[in-house]
Amino acid sequence: MRTRRLGNTDLELTVIGLGTWAIGGSWQFGWGPQDDADSIRTILAAIDGGINWIDTAPIYGCGHSESIVGLALRELREKPLIATKCGLLWNDKREKINCLDHDSIIKECEDSLKRLGVDVIDLYQMHWPQPEAQLEEAWEAMATLVQQGKVRNIGASNFTVEQLQRVVAIYPPASLQPPYSMLRRDIEEGMIDYCGQNSIGIVAYSPMQKGLLTGKFSAEHMRTLAADDHRLNDPNFDGEKFQKNLSIIESLRPIAERNGKTVAQLAIAWVLRKEEITAAIVGARKQSQIEETVQAGDWILSDEEIEEISRILE
Ligand SMILES: NC(=O)c1ccc[n+]([C@@H]2O[C@H](COP(=O)([O-])OP(=O)(O)OC[C@H]3O[C@@H](n4cnc5c(N)ncnc54)[C@H](OP(=O)(O)O)[C@@H]3O)[C@@H](O)[C@H]2O)c1
Repeated sequence: MRTRRLGNTDLELTVIGLGTWAIGGSWQFGWGPQDDADSIRTILAAIDGGINWIDTAPIYGCGHSESIVGLALRELREKPLIATKCGLLWNDKREKINCLDHDSIIKECEDSLKRLGVDVIDLYQMHWPQPEAQLEEAWEAMATLVQQGKVRNIGASNFTVEQLQRVVAIYPPASLQPPYSMLRRDIEEGMIDYCGQNSIGIVAYSPMQKGLLTGKFSAEHMRTLAADDHRLNDPNFDGEKFQKNLSIIESLRPIAERNGKTVAQLAIAWVLRKEEITAAIVGARKQSQIEETVQAGDWILSDEEIEEISRILE
């Protein structure tokens, strides 16, 4: 699979990274029950399919996603690069708590290293810049972790340009992890240019808009979701917005089909059309899903196809 250099770092990332939110299983923002054996098969299939990096976070299943990634790593002779995050803790109801205290970040890193079973984390990202007043305090803690050799590079997630500018002077961010898909294009308003001009890599999350852009969703499919699947409360999957999204997807389907591809592969290839996007973080919870989506890594859309998609998205 194609690779791209992450910002100013020495990390060569495959243009698809495996996202492991859904394999965390149940918590406040979970995706319903998940079979751990399926998760491990999915991770191994991702690596087998040429993916060289995995994105996870402590909050995904309150430690569970990182532990499952750790179990899968033990089965691999050649280890993929690991990206995880900090800044979100949880309470005993498995609800998230934003925390950017210096000492908490240092402890979170120790806990992640243990769960993952690794000596160093390749990319350590601040999950959310909240509480915002502690942005600098937390970034300084992350820079300390680099000096201590516990993490190789630090990155931001869900930041604005102004928030990136606040941390640059403390320690250069290797990357930004923002949402980006055909249905969520906020970063086109200045963020992509800022990152490109400042050598900050972009690792885009939810490229299939949480599975919506696979083309499998309908009112009937919604009824099959587990009662604790957070997508039941996501406006993209509800009411008029949902109907509008479905109609966009039906217009995209012929473009995928005439190339012998799927809507999911089209959605990922579209995210990767811009050089500034280092990689798309593609979520999967079953082996068959990643075996399908990994093939999008080498699909380069033509200018005509990009133009046709722009007209549909307008
Ligand atoms: N930094 C942040 O705040 C943040 C936020 C969101 C995500 N992320 C990261 O980005 C990753 C990817 O985003 P995401 O998981 O939200 O969304 P995504 O990649 O757009 O969608 C992933 C989901 O789509 C479904 N799917 C995947 N492949 C499929 C296929 N071939 N056919 C049918 N369905 C398929 C699966 O769910 P079902 O089978 O249940 O439909 C899967 O969990 C996350 O795992 C996480 O690592 C980070």
